[in-house]
Amino acid sequence: MKAVMLIGGEGTRLRPLTCNTTKAMVPILNKPFLEHAILYFKKHGIDDIILAMGYLPHSIKEHFGDGNHLGVSLTYVVEDAPLGTAGAVKNVEPFLDDRPFIVFNGDVITDIDLTKMVKRHNEVKPRATIALTSVENPNIYGVVETDASGLVKRFVEKPGWDEVTSNMVNAGIYVLEPEVMKYVPPSKFSMFENYLFPLLLERNEPILSYPAGGYWIDIGTPEKYLKVHHDLLMEWPDRGIRLEGKSELHRQTQIEGPVLIGEGCVISKGVHITGPAVLGPGCKIEEDVLLDKAVLWHGVKIGEGVRIKSCIICANSIIKQGCDVLENCVLGENVTIREDNAPAAGVRVWPEGF
Ligand code: GTP
Repeated sequence: MKAVMLIGGEGTRLRPLTCNTTKAMVPILNKPFLEHAILYFKKHGIDDIILAMGYLPHSIKEHFGDGNHLGVSLTYVVEDAPLGTAGAVKNVEPFLDDRPFIVFNGDVITDIDLTKMVKRHNEVKPRATIALTSVENPNIYGVVETDASGLVKRFVEKPGWDEVTSNMVNAGIYVLEPEVMKYVPPSKFSMFENYLFPLLLERNEPILSYPAGGYWIDIGTPEKYLKVHHDLLMEWPDRGIRLEGKSELHRQTQIEGPVLIGEGCVISKGVHITGPAVLGPGCKIEEDVLLDKAVLWHGVKIGEGVRIKSCIICANSIIKQGCDVLENCVLGENVTIREDNAPAAGVRVWPEGF
Protein backbone atom coordinates (compact mmCIF):
# COMPACT_ATOMS: atom_id res chain seq x y z
CA MET A 1 0.00 0.00 0.00
CA LYS A 2 1.24 3.49 -0.83
CA ALA A 3 1.01 6.62 1.27
CA VAL A 4 1.08 10.22 0.13
CA MET A 5 2.41 12.65 2.64
CA LEU A 6 1.46 16.30 2.24
CA ILE A 7 4.44 18.40 3.22
CA GLY A 8 4.21 21.32 0.83
CA GLY A 9 2.75 23.98 3.15
CA GLU A 10 4.72 27.00 4.33
CA GLY A 11 3.79 26.47 7.97
CA THR A 12 3.07 30.17 8.47
CA ARG A 13 1.46 29.69 11.88
CA LEU A 14 4.56 27.92 13.12
CA ARG A 15 6.89 30.81 12.26
CA PRO A 16 9.60 31.64 13.19
CA LEU A 17 10.37 27.90 13.43
CA THR A 18 9.58 27.58 9.72
CA CYS A 19 11.30 30.73 8.46
CA ASN A 20 14.33 28.79 7.21
CA THR A 21 13.12 25.21 7.65
CA THR A 22 10.08 23.32 6.40
CA LYS A 23 7.70 21.84 8.96
CA ALA A 24 8.82 18.37 7.85
CA MET A 25 12.38 19.13 9.00
CA VAL A 26 11.47 20.81 12.28
CA PRO A 27 13.03 18.67 15.02
CA ILE A 28 10.84 16.72 17.41
CA LEU A 29 12.99 15.18 20.15
CA ASN A 30 16.07 16.04 18.06
CA LYS A 31 14.86 14.20 14.94
CA PRO A 32 13.12 15.78 11.95
CA PHE A 33 9.34 15.55 12.17
CA LEU A 34 9.33 13.55 8.94
CA GLU A 35 11.42 10.79 10.47
CA HIS A 36 8.77 10.22 13.16
CA ALA A 37 6.08 10.10 10.46
CA ILE A 38 8.06 7.65 8.31
CA LEU A 39 8.63 5.32 11.27
CA TYR A 40 4.91 5.51 12.08
CA PHE A 41 4.07 4.38 8.52
CA LYS A 42 6.66 1.64 8.69
CA LYS A 43 5.19 0.33 11.92
CA HIS A 44 1.94 -0.13 9.99
CA GLY A 45 3.63 -1.97 7.13
CA ILE A 46 3.67 0.98 4.72
CA ASP A 47 7.06 1.42 3.13
CA ASP A 48 6.26 3.11 -0.18
CA ILE A 49 5.87 6.79 0.57
CA ILE A 50 5.29 9.64 -1.87
CA LEU A 51 6.25 13.07 -0.55
CA ALA A 52 4.18 15.90 -2.05
CA MET A 53 6.42 18.90 -1.51
CA GLY A 54 6.54 22.61 -2.24
CA TYR A 55 8.17 24.88 0.34
CA LEU A 56 11.96 24.35 0.82
CA PRO A 57 12.10 20.81 -0.59
CA HIS A 58 15.88 20.47 -1.00
CA SER A 59 16.83 19.97 2.64
CA ILE A 60 14.35 17.10 2.85
CA LYS A 61 15.84 15.29 -0.15
CA GLU A 62 19.35 15.86 1.12
CA HIS A 63 18.53 14.44 4.54
CA PHE A 64 16.38 11.45 3.62
CA GLY A 65 17.72 10.40 0.19
CA ASP A 66 15.93 7.33 -1.13
CA GLY A 67 14.75 6.40 2.38
CA ASN A 68 16.72 3.16 2.38
CA HIS A 69 18.39 3.80 5.74
CA LEU A 70 14.94 3.93 7.35
CA GLY A 71 13.76 0.84 5.45
CA VAL A 72 11.31 2.68 3.18
CA SER A 73 11.21 3.87 -0.40
CA LEU A 74 10.65 7.60 -0.88
CA THR A 75 9.38 9.31 -4.03
CA TYR A 76 9.71 13.10 -4.19
CA VAL A 77 7.28 15.25 -6.15
CA VAL A 78 7.73 19.02 -6.00
CA GLU A 79 4.95 21.46 -6.95
CA ASP A 80 5.88 24.58 -8.91
CA ALA A 81 3.16 26.48 -7.03
CA PRO A 82 1.05 25.30 -4.07
CA LEU A 83 -1.77 23.07 -5.31
CA GLY A 84 -3.59 22.64 -2.00
CA THR A 85 -4.09 19.32 -0.27
CA ALA A 86 -6.26 17.63 -2.96
CA GLY A 87 -4.42 19.28 -5.86
CA ALA A 88 -1.12 18.00 -4.43
CA VAL A 89 -2.43 14.42 -4.42
CA LYS A 90 -3.72 14.83 -8.00
CA ASN A 91 -0.20 15.94 -8.89
CA VAL A 92 1.29 12.64 -7.64
CA GLU A 93 -1.39 10.48 -9.35
CA PRO A 94 1.12 9.04 -11.88
CA PHE A 95 2.98 7.45 -8.93
CA LEU A 96 -0.13 5.74 -7.50
CA ASP A 97 -1.58 2.41 -8.61
CA ASP A 98 -5.08 0.90 -8.75
CA ARG A 99 -5.19 0.09 -5.03
CA PRO A 100 -6.49 2.29 -2.20
CA PHE A 101 -3.84 4.58 -0.74
CA ILE A 102 -3.28 6.66 2.36
CA VAL A 103 -3.06 10.45 2.53
CA PHE A 104 -1.44 11.96 5.59
CA ASN A 105 -1.16 15.63 6.58
CA GLY A 106 2.51 16.20 7.17
CA ASP A 107 2.15 17.93 10.49
CA VAL A 108 0.43 15.29 12.57
CA ILE A 109 1.94 13.28 15.40
CA THR A 110 -0.32 10.38 16.26
CA ASP A 111 -0.59 6.76 17.29
CA ILE A 112 -3.92 6.24 15.49
CA ASP A 113 -4.05 2.59 14.41
CA LEU A 114 -3.60 2.88 10.63
CA THR A 115 -3.68 -0.89 10.21
CA LYS A 116 -7.19 -1.07 11.72
CA MET A 117 -8.32 1.96 9.75
CA VAL A 118 -7.27 0.38 6.45
CA LYS A 119 -8.92 -2.92 7.47
CA ARG A 120 -12.19 -1.10 8.18
CA HIS A 121 -11.95 0.72 4.82
CA ASN A 122 -11.45 -2.58 2.99
CA GLU A 123 -14.42 -4.19 4.81
CA VAL A 124 -16.89 -1.36 4.11
CA LYS A 125 -15.42 -0.30 0.76
CA PRO A 126 -16.46 3.37 0.72
CA ARG A 127 -14.85 5.82 -1.71
CA ALA A 128 -12.94 7.43 1.14
CA THR A 129 -12.37 6.89 4.84
CA ILE A 130 -11.52 9.84 7.07
CA ALA A 131 -9.94 9.40 10.50
CA LEU A 132 -11.68 11.48 13.13
CA THR A 133 -10.22 12.63 16.39
CA SER A 134 -11.90 14.35 19.32
CA VAL A 135 -10.67 17.80 20.31
CA GLU A 136 -11.66 20.34 22.95
CA ASN A 137 -11.83 23.24 20.50
CA PRO A 138 -13.55 21.92 17.33
CA ASN A 139 -14.21 25.50 16.15
CA ILE A 140 -10.67 25.80 14.77
CA TYR A 141 -10.85 22.50 12.87
CA GLY A 142 -13.09 20.82 10.29
CA VAL A 143 -16.00 19.16 12.10
CA VAL A 144 -17.37 15.98 10.51
CA GLU A 145 -20.99 14.95 11.14
CA THR A 146 -21.87 11.28 10.66
CA ASP A 147 -24.93 9.01 10.76
CA ALA A 148 -25.35 6.02 13.07
CA SER A 149 -23.50 3.72 10.66
CA GLY A 150 -20.49 6.04 10.56
CA LEU A 151 -21.11 7.42 7.07
CA VAL A 152 -20.33 11.12 6.72
CA LYS A 153 -23.37 13.41 6.38
CA ARG A 154 -21.80 16.85 6.42
CA PHE A 155 -18.58 18.80 6.79
CA VAL A 156 -18.45 22.05 8.68
CA GLU A 157 -15.10 23.87 8.32
CA LYS A 158 -14.09 25.90 11.39
CA PRO A 159 -17.67 26.23 12.72
CA GLY A 160 -18.77 29.05 15.02
CA TRP A 161 -19.49 27.85 18.58
CA ASP A 162 -23.25 28.01 17.85
CA GLU A 163 -22.75 25.62 14.90
CA VAL A 164 -20.63 23.05 16.74
CA THR A 165 -22.56 19.78 16.76
CA SER A 166 -19.69 17.41 17.43
CA ASN A 167 -16.17 17.49 18.81
CA MET A 168 -15.02 14.91 16.24
CA VAL A 169 -12.80 16.60 13.69
CA ASN A 170 -10.95 15.65 10.55
CA ALA A 171 -7.59 14.22 11.68
CA GLY A 172 -5.94 14.78 8.28
CA ILE A 173 -5.54 11.03 7.64
CA TYR A 174 -7.48 9.45 4.78
CA VAL A 175 -7.75 6.15 2.92
CA LEU A 176 -8.85 6.88 -0.65
CA GLU A 177 -9.91 4.76 -3.59
CA PRO A 178 -7.90 5.92 -6.61
CA GLU A 179 -11.13 6.62 -8.59
CA VAL A 180 -11.96 9.65 -6.44
CA MET A 181 -9.05 11.53 -7.95
CA LYS A 182 -11.05 11.90 -11.18
CA TYR A 183 -13.00 14.66 -9.41
CA VAL A 184 -9.86 16.72 -8.77
CA PRO A 185 -8.79 19.04 -11.61
CA PRO A 186 -5.10 18.72 -12.54
CA SER A 187 -2.68 21.60 -11.97
CA LYS A 188 -5.27 23.59 -10.06
CA PHE A 189 -5.45 24.52 -6.41
CA SER A 190 -8.03 22.45 -4.47
CA MET A 191 -8.47 21.17 -0.95
CA PHE A 192 -9.94 17.95 0.42
CA GLU A 193 -11.80 19.72 3.18
CA ASN A 194 -13.81 22.23 1.17
CA TYR A 195 -13.67 20.78 -2.34
CA LEU A 196 -13.24 17.05 -2.87
CA PHE A 197 -15.04 15.68 0.20
CA PRO A 198 -18.15 17.90 -0.13
CA LEU A 199 -18.21 17.05 -3.86
CA LEU A 200 -18.12 13.32 -3.11
CA LEU A 201 -21.14 13.75 -0.81
CA GLU A 202 -22.96 15.68 -3.53
CA ARG A 203 -22.32 12.82 -5.95
CA ASN A 204 -23.52 10.24 -3.40
CA GLU A 205 -20.09 8.69 -3.18
CA PRO A 206 -19.92 7.18 0.32
CA ILE A 207 -17.39 8.54 2.79
CA LEU A 208 -16.79 6.54 5.94
CA SER A 209 -15.63 8.05 9.20
CA TYR A 210 -13.13 6.24 11.37
CA PRO A 211 -13.33 7.57 14.94
CA ALA A 212 -9.81 6.88 16.08
CA GLY A 213 -8.87 6.83 19.74
CA GLY A 214 -5.30 7.42 20.82
CA TYR A 215 -2.93 10.34 20.68
CA TRP A 216 -3.30 12.99 17.98
CA ILE A 217 -1.88 16.47 17.68
CA ASP A 218 -0.85 18.68 14.79
CA ILE A 219 2.27 20.76 15.22
CA GLY A 220 0.66 23.77 13.56
CA THR A 221 1.66 26.40 16.14
CA PRO A 222 4.57 26.94 18.54
CA GLU A 223 2.26 26.22 21.49
CA LYS A 224 1.41 22.82 20.04
CA TYR A 225 5.05 22.22 19.14
CA LEU A 226 5.97 22.65 22.82
CA LYS A 227 3.02 20.50 23.87
CA VAL A 228 4.14 17.62 21.64
CA HIS A 229 7.51 17.65 23.39
CA HIS A 230 5.86 17.81 26.76
CA ASP A 231 3.55 14.88 25.93
CA LEU A 232 6.23 12.67 24.36
CA LEU A 233 8.78 13.27 27.13
CA MET A 234 6.26 12.73 29.93
CA GLU A 235 5.56 9.32 28.38
CA TRP A 236 9.08 8.12 29.17
CA PRO A 237 8.53 5.54 31.89
CA ASP A 238 11.53 6.71 33.95
CA ARG A 239 11.11 10.42 33.15
CA GLY A 240 14.88 10.45 33.34
CA ILE A 241 17.84 12.09 31.62
CA ARG A 242 18.87 10.72 28.24
CA LEU A 243 22.16 11.59 26.56
CA GLU A 244 22.31 10.97 22.81
CA GLY A 245 26.11 10.92 22.77
CA LYS A 246 29.06 12.38 24.62
CA SER A 247 28.42 15.71 26.37
CA GLU A 248 30.21 17.64 29.09
CA LEU A 249 28.06 17.97 32.18
CA HIS A 250 29.63 19.74 35.17
CA ARG A 251 29.19 17.76 38.41
CA GLN A 252 27.45 20.69 40.03
CA THR A 253 24.44 20.83 37.74
CA GLN A 254 20.93 19.91 38.66
CA ILE A 255 18.85 18.15 36.01
CA GLU A 256 15.30 17.01 36.68
CA GLY A 257 13.96 14.76 33.92
CA PRO A 258 12.53 14.06 31.54
CA VAL A 259 15.35 15.77 29.65
CA LEU A 260 16.88 14.81 26.29
CA ILE A 261 20.41 16.06 25.66
CA GLY A 262 21.89 15.90 22.15
CA GLU A 263 25.51 15.01 21.46
CA GLY A 264 28.32 17.48 22.16
CA CYS A 265 26.55 19.77 24.64
CA VAL A 266 28.47 21.66 27.31
CA ILE A 267 26.56 22.28 30.51
CA SER A 268 28.42 24.39 33.04
CA LYS A 269 28.51 24.66 36.81
CA GLY A 270 25.34 25.68 38.62
CA VAL A 271 23.01 25.08 35.66
CA HIS A 272 19.52 23.93 36.63
CA ILE A 273 17.41 22.16 33.99
CA THR A 274 13.81 21.20 34.68
CA GLY A 275 12.06 18.83 32.29
CA PRO A 276 10.30 18.19 30.10
CA ALA A 277 13.10 19.80 28.13
CA VAL A 278 15.26 19.13 25.06
CA LEU A 279 18.74 20.35 24.18
CA GLY A 280 19.75 19.85 20.58
CA PRO A 281 23.30 18.73 19.71
CA GLY A 282 26.13 21.14 20.43
CA CYS A 283 24.32 23.50 22.82
CA LYS A 284 26.47 25.49 25.22
CA ILE A 285 24.87 26.45 28.52
CA GLU A 286 26.96 28.78 30.69
CA GLU A 287 27.11 28.92 34.49
CA ASP A 288 24.00 29.32 36.63
CA VAL A 289 21.55 29.22 33.74
CA LEU A 290 18.05 28.07 34.58
CA LEU A 291 16.27 26.14 31.81
CA ASP A 292 12.70 25.28 32.56
CA LYS A 293 10.54 23.27 30.09
CA ALA A 294 12.37 24.61 27.07
CA VAL A 295 13.18 23.17 23.67
CA LEU A 296 16.55 24.18 22.21
CA TRP A 297 17.58 23.24 18.68
CA HIS A 298 21.23 22.54 17.80
CA GLY A 299 24.06 24.94 18.50
CA VAL A 300 22.17 27.24 20.89
CA LYS A 301 24.30 29.25 23.34
CA ILE A 302 22.90 30.61 26.59
CA GLY A 303 24.99 33.13 28.58
CA GLU A 304 25.68 33.02 32.28
CA GLY A 305 22.77 33.48 34.68
CA VAL A 306 19.99 33.69 32.05
CA ARG A 307 16.64 32.14 32.96
CA ILE A 308 14.67 30.48 30.15
CA LYS A 309 11.11 29.34 30.81
CA SER A 310 8.85 27.51 28.32
CA CYS A 311 10.75 28.88 25.30
CA ILE A 312 11.58 27.43 21.89
CA ILE A 313 15.00 28.52 20.67
CA CYS A 314 15.91 27.56 17.12
CA ALA A 315 19.30 26.53 15.77
CA ASN A 316 22.45 28.53 16.47
CA SER A 317 20.74 31.32 18.37
CA ILE A 318 22.65 33.08 21.11
CA ILE A 319 21.30 34.60 24.29
CA LYS A 320 23.95 36.73 25.90
CA GLN A 321 24.74 37.05 29.57
CA GLY A 322 22.72 39.86 31.16
CA CYS A 323 19.36 38.92 29.63
CA ASP A 324 17.46 38.23 32.79
CA VAL A 325 14.40 36.12 31.94
CA LEU A 326 12.93 34.87 28.66
CA GLU A 327 9.48 33.40 29.16
CA ASN A 328 7.17 31.80 26.55
CA CYS A 329 9.34 33.28 23.81
CA VAL A 330 10.02 31.72 20.42
CA LEU A 331 13.32 32.58 18.75
CA GLY A 332 14.03 31.77 15.11
CA GLU A 333 17.36 30.47 13.81
CA ASN A 334 20.58 32.50 14.17
CA VAL A 335 19.01 35.12 16.40
CA THR A 336 21.26 36.94 18.88
CA ILE A 337 19.68 38.47 21.96
CA ARG A 338 21.87 41.02 23.73
CA GLU A 339 21.50 42.06 27.31
CA ASP A 340 19.64 45.23 26.42
CA ASN A 341 17.05 43.69 24.11
CA ALA A 342 15.63 40.65 25.87
CA PRO A 343 12.15 40.07 24.40
CA ALA A 344 9.10 40.44 26.62
CA ALA A 345 7.13 37.34 27.60
CA GLY A 346 5.34 35.68 24.70
CA VAL A 347 7.25 37.44 21.93
CA ARG A 348 8.32 35.64 18.74
CA VAL A 349 11.64 36.80 17.29
CA TRP A 350 12.17 36.34 13.53
CA PRO A 351 15.63 35.68 12.06
CA GLU A 352 17.28 38.71 10.53
CA GLY A 353 16.29 39.37 6.92
CA PHE A 354 13.12 37.28 6.96
P1 GTP B 1 -0.10 27.17 7.84
O1 GTP B 1 0.50 28.08 6.82
O2 GTP B 1 0.37 27.47 9.22
O3 GTP B 1 -1.59 27.00 7.73
O4 GTP B 1 0.51 25.72 7.58
P2 GTP B 1 0.48 24.72 6.36
O5 GTP B 1 -0.06 25.33 5.12
O6 GTP B 1 1.84 24.12 6.27
O7 GTP B 1 -0.41 23.59 6.92
P3 GTP B 1 -1.94 23.26 6.85
O8 GTP B 1 -2.34 22.89 8.23
O9 GTP B 1 -2.71 24.30 6.16
O10 GTP B 1 -1.87 21.99 5.92
C1 GTP B 1 -1.90 20.66 6.40
C2 GTP B 1 -0.82 19.84 5.72
O11 GTP B 1 -0.97 19.92 4.31
C3 GTP B 1 0.58 20.33 6.04
O12 GTP B 1 1.38 19.21 6.29
C4 GTP B 1 1.03 21.05 4.80
O13 GTP B 1 2.42 20.87 4.55
C5 GTP B 1 0.22 20.35 3.71
N1 GTP B 1 -0.11 21.29 2.64
C6 GTP B 1 -0.88 22.40 2.74
N2 GTP B 1 -0.97 23.00 1.55
C7 GTP B 1 -0.26 22.25 0.67
C8 GTP B 1 0.04 22.36 -0.73
O14 GTP B 1 -0.37 23.29 -1.42
N3 GTP B 1 0.82 21.38 -1.28
C9 GTP B 1 1.29 20.33 -0.55
N4 GTP B 1 2.05 19.41 -1.15
N5 GTP B 1 1.05 20.21 0.78
C10 GTP B 1 0.28 21.15 1.38
